Amino acid sequence: MQPLNQLVEADRVHRSVYTDPAIFDREMTDIWEKIWVYCGHESQVKKTGDFHTVQIGRQPMIMVRGSDGRVRVLYNRCPHRGVQLCGSRQGNTGSTFVCSYHAWTFHLDGRVKGIPLPHGYDGTRLTQDNPDCSMKAAARVDSYRGFVFASLSADGPTLLEFLGDARIAFDDMCDRSPEGEVEIVPLCHRVVQQSNWKFFMENQLDALHPSVTHQSTGIAAGRVERKLQQAGETPPLYYHYLSTFASSFDQWDSVQTVNFPRGHGILKGYMGLRPDDVDTQEYVAGMYRAYGEKRAEEFLGRSIHHVLVYPYLSVQSPLQQLRVLRPIAPNKTLSEIWHFRLKGVSQAIYRRALWYYNLVNSPATLINADDLENWTKGQLGLESNGGDWVSFHRQFGRDTIEEGVSYSNCGTSEVVMRNQFKAWAQYLGSQP
Ligand code: FES
Ligand SMILES: [Fe+2]
Repeated sequence: MQPLNQLVEADRVHRSVYTDPAIFDREMTDIWEKIWVYCGHESQVKKTGDFHTVQIGRQPMIMVRGSDGRVRVLYNRCPHRGVQLCGSRQGNTGSTFVCSYHAWTFHLDGRVKGIPLPHGYDGTRLTQDNPDCSMKAAARVDSYRGFVFASLSADGPTLLEFLGDARIAFDDMCDRSPEGEVEIVPLCHRVVQQSNWKFFMENQLDALHPSVTHQSTGIAAGRVERKLQQAGETPPLYYHYLSTFASSFDQWDSVQTVNFPRGHGILKGYMGLRPDDVDTQEYVAGMYRAYGEKRAEEFLGRSIHHVLVYPYLSVQSPLQQLRVLRPIAPNKTLSEIWHFRLKGVSQAIYRRALWYYNLVNSPATLINADDLENWTKGQLGLESNGGDWVSFHRQFGRDTIEEGVSYSNCGTSEVVMRNQFKAWAQYLGSQP
């Protein structure tokens, strides 16, 4: 592996950061297995014994609700001979984890409860009060507005320090509920991307690609939208969701990105999400009742499309959607795409967001498929000997930087990627 400062320059990076297994291993140990990683939402584990398995870096973990009501994150590993305790993705384990191999049992906080045929250990150094007999817990667990994170490192920034200004993702999502809370929809789209995780993170705030990559969908939706308008009808909002993908480059340049320390960032809003219909009027009235007009308008008027929590989360807060990456290999990344319900709003408002969720992410849509094809082809291109460098020169030197935050002056600036790689190099211990 070359020294990192030879891999990441201010305006370009070496292709091996997307392809080299040694670099991927470093990312797992020095980034994923240290930072705060999103595990899930508290509403995924409502009852005592509810669990959900989750991958943090290369570590299989269990998020579980204890009998004391606390949510914990434990390694999914039996202390006896290492077998995973939860074989399914989610469920309820009752009051105890039971190992399927030799039936050791554990409390929901990970403490060993029972070892069968205990006399077989008499006189050995294995005693039940030995901490090695209990399940190991993540070093730190914390949550923000119901979103649960764990860090496998005892040291490092607090969750709020890690999130920094990107915490707006969760505020924006929850503040849009008159009750200030969301609840997870317990099914997600799972997509294995045949590409390095960085393609996804770069793409989320890449305003240069939608009108190229998503042109066919955007133009077709715009055509129907116009036809309905010409016929005097109001096109359903979901046509607008798709037609905006084919906005002009001038329009995309007017949508700014804000790029924070640690690689986080925001793509500002570009879609109108407040149609003048009865459902929206009723929803806005409910928000006014809950918060007063001024605060409600502040919440509803935030200009946000995506918020990125680098290096693994893309939160589309105005539409209650969250995508989380679980890297598998340099050229393979699992993405989980979750959806949330605003508490205290009508079914119509929920369905409106659900339309977006499915129109953009379901296996039946071309939006995600077109992105996935780019990333697969991108990975194949970077694995070739056709060139060594990946270019992030667009608008280089023309962004506004204030107190560590880079503001694009053109929405299509590649400042997003430059900012992400700055954070990446810092995580891996070298300033470019
Ligand atoms: S491996 Fe779990 S009880 Fe033996
Ligand atoms: Fe896209």
